[in-house]
Amino acid sequence: ETATKGGYEHFMYKEINEQPGALRRTTQGRLDTRTGGAKLDEFPPGTFADVQQVHLIAMGTSHHAGMYAASLLNARGIPAYAFMSGEYSVVKPPVTPSTLVVAVSQSGETADTLDAVRRARSAGARTLAVTNVVGSSITRECDDELLLRAGPEIGVAATKTFSSQVTALALLAERITEDYTGMKSTDSRELMNALARLPGDVQEILDTSTAREVAIEYEGSDAYFFIGRGPAHPVALEGALKFKEISYEHAEGFAASELKHGPLALVTPITPVFAIFTGHEDEATLSNVKEVQARGAPVIAVTSDESSEIAEFADHVLSIPETHPEIAGILANVQLQLVAYHAANLLERPIDKPRNLAKCVTVE
Ligand code: G6P
Repeated sequence: ETATKGGYEHFMYKEINEQPGALRRTTQGRLDTRTGGAKLDEFPPGTFADVQQVHLIAMGTSHHAGMYAASLLNARGIPAYAFMSGEYSVVKPPVTPSTLVVAVSQSGETADTLDAVRRARSAGARTLAVTNVVGSSITRECDDELLLRAGPEIGVAATKTFSSQVTALALLAERITEDYTGMKSTDSRELMNALARLPGDVQEILDTSTAREVAIEYEGSDAYFFIGRGPAHPVALEGALKFKEISYEHAEGFAASELKHGPLALVTPITPVFAIFTGHEDEATLSNVKEVQARGAPVIAVTSDESSEIAEFADHVLSIPETHPEIAGILANVQLQLVAYHAANLLERPIDKPRNLAKCVTVE
């Protein structure tokens, strides 16, 4: 076990640090940086031309990647909805042969997700698996598959596979758009170039992050809150999930717009708030920051805009390189992974195997 940790104290930290390589493999041969467009040769031209709506089904971290992808698809005019697969089977949203059900599962073995796939298929939907594991059950249950190529992930808390999932789903969103509309999205070339720069941008965060200082400064807080808008909302949920599962501290993520409808009652001077800025109505998120600061809460801003009003208001800035707004959330999430890791490490938690949790849940 020590050998495969490659000198790192924990698999989770190793896997956080492996993200540049994982992302390089996820995007390898799949980016047309010259003319724009995703080169997903596993799907023949026109594969998605008849898709009228997309359902993304998944659990845990994969569900957050599904929510992220739904926001990318909706922004391109393609109706998309993210569901927890455990709920999907209960709610039974209507599907037709033109519904594409994208099942996102790192392991490809999560029972709730497999069950939801079977139900979707029997109701007539087309199914596509986005997974990290070649030959996993989900690849056998679905019509098509898109592989992450992130490499094995041992830590129970998913890290590099989230980044690879969002990246693969951004490529898929691009490809669905092209088949559906007959055109590449307007800034496809910028997005493909940003994806090509992503491994380097993640490396820059790994080399310069001040997340450990933030973890030290706020150790012993009552609770930790995370807020974001648009694609930064699932990043807020993911930031909180990572924090709670490995540190055992109370952490919650909210849509920034939800704050004044309840969560604000929980905000005090000992509940730090992580505010994620990805260029999606940042001014509105800044006014949420002012609201929590008025209640005395410290604010940690995750932003690329260090010279802005955001940085002026925040108690701390976790900086991310400037990139395409659609993938800025991947970078913000890396900073939050590091905060969670360092917070849990300070508390000497068993980071790779948190109590009561399993890497893969094969029972419903
Ligand atoms: C468990 C793991 C999570 C994971 C979730 C879904 O809860 O602890 O890290 O996100 O299952 O797993 P999957 O393999 O389907 O992505």
